[in-house]
Amino acid sequence: MLKICRSKVNVFSVAGQNDRKWSVPGYTRFNTGRCILSATVPSSTQVEIAARFRSTRRRTLALCEPLSPEDMMVQSSAEASPVKWHLAHTAWFFESFILREFLPGYRLFNAEFPWLFNSYYASFAPFPEKRLRASFSRPGLDEILRYRKHVDESVDRLLGANPEPEALKRIELGVNHEEQHQELLLTDILHAFFTNPLRPGYLPGAAEPKFAAWEGKNSEGASASGDAHSLRFQEFPGGLSEAGHRGLGFCFDNEMPRHRVWLEPYALARRLVTCGEFAAFIADGGYRRPELWLSAGWDAVKNNGWQAPLYWTTESDGRWSVFTLRGEQPLARLEAAPVSQVSYFEADAYARWAGRRLATEFEWEAAAEGRPVAGNLLDSGRMVPAPAAERSHNQAPLPSVEEPTQLFGDCWEWTASAYLGYPGFQPLAGSLGEYNGKFMSGQMVLRGGSCATPAAHIRSSYRNFFAPETRWQFSGIRLAS
Ligand SMILES: [Fe+2]
Repeated sequence: MLKICRSKVNVFSVAGQNDRKWSVPGYTRFNTGRCILSATVPSSTQVEIAARFRSTRRRTLALCEPLSPEDMMVQSSAEASPVKWHLAHTAWFFESFILREFLPGYRLFNAEFPWLFNSYYASFAPFPEKRLRASFSRPGLDEILRYRKHVDESVDRLLGANPEPEALKRIELGVNHEEQHQELLLTDILHAFFTNPLRPGYLPGAAEPKFAAWEGKNSEGASASGDAHSLRFQEFPGGLSEAGHRGLGFCFDNEMPRHRVWLEPYALARRLVTCGEFAAFIADGGYRRPELWLSAGWDAVKNNGWQAPLYWTTESDGRWSVFTLRGEQPLARLEAAPVSQVSYFEADAYARWAGRRLATEFEWEAAAEGRPVAGNLLDSGRMVPAPAAERSHNQAPLPSVEEPTQLFGDCWEWTASAYLGYPGFQPLAGSLGEYNGKFMSGQMVLRGGSCATPAAHIRSSYRNFFAPETRWQFSGIRLAS
């Protein structure tokens, strides 16, 4: 195994992750609706950003500890990237958008890296085709780790020189960018190990998730046999509501401006759809009935040969197994856990089969706003979606019977909303404007984070987005009506 990080950092626990210490008191909101830094930033905020930068950088390396250098070279699909590339690209972000601009006298670590590790910022530099990232045997891992160290030391130097507010804002953006890549690193290695004939588990010595209630009914009445009709719903009155980020903390440009939305009365399922329930959909011919599918979804079923979620396979006895970051698990163990690694098309078809629908992103946000960010997130250390009855160590007390569960963590929830700019949306200036805005076509919004999302990274206004065929993320289903 790779020994690259002997720090004491806990992979799953970063200081300040749930208490919004990240909030930057110096933020103000201009009439563009974007969060930008005011002219003065308290030194304590600078200290907090520095601490968050260091802990995030350490956690990325800690996530690599179970991996060998060979593991870190695998790119098992065109949409995934090798772990080594994630290590380099996250350093590239700080070098390209912070150090080159704000640290006087900064010297590039390698003159080839600005284009080599550019992902998609076309106005910044050219970049190699994404599918070629597995061919980056050079530069070697040692050089990439030296690159990260060079960038870390340079950012530390910048932080020690009382940087201007815009530099602090960019460092905060870089930290949030790296947290996104921490989740991608895990979903990419899960896919890589799934394609390996040996099906290795990412977490060593952890063949079985630490779930206390694998059998019988969970707290929301989902039976091990997957009785979708036992699912209960919480009703919301609808009416005039607001969507978008508010407050003083960090947000991405796509969460702004906050604006009014009208909601008809609606109801949300009190938990996510389980593996057992999804197995019932399969057994009922869900993947063979075109009337359940959107046209493009049915095309995807036929063209890709879909018969089940991405990591479900059948054993010789016909029973399902599910591949996870903890290795292969029999479906019998996971029946009460949320189904994951499904596309938007599968989520939509399941909802139609169940006589329900998916929520809009605004319905979801109205239900989640003001609730504590607590759930089975990366910090729980489980790294697999957990049954609704299960609670992780960082979760708040059990909600009352009137509240939905699993809003944060376990699986990202596909919504029925296309990923578009909010009214008055303005992307960040310059090349960073390519971060979110240019993807506002042909993608659907997901909400709530997953078991691979750092807790400090997620909030009720957070908008994830993927193409509707995407299946390699921890993406699941919450029904609405
Ligand atoms: Fe990136």
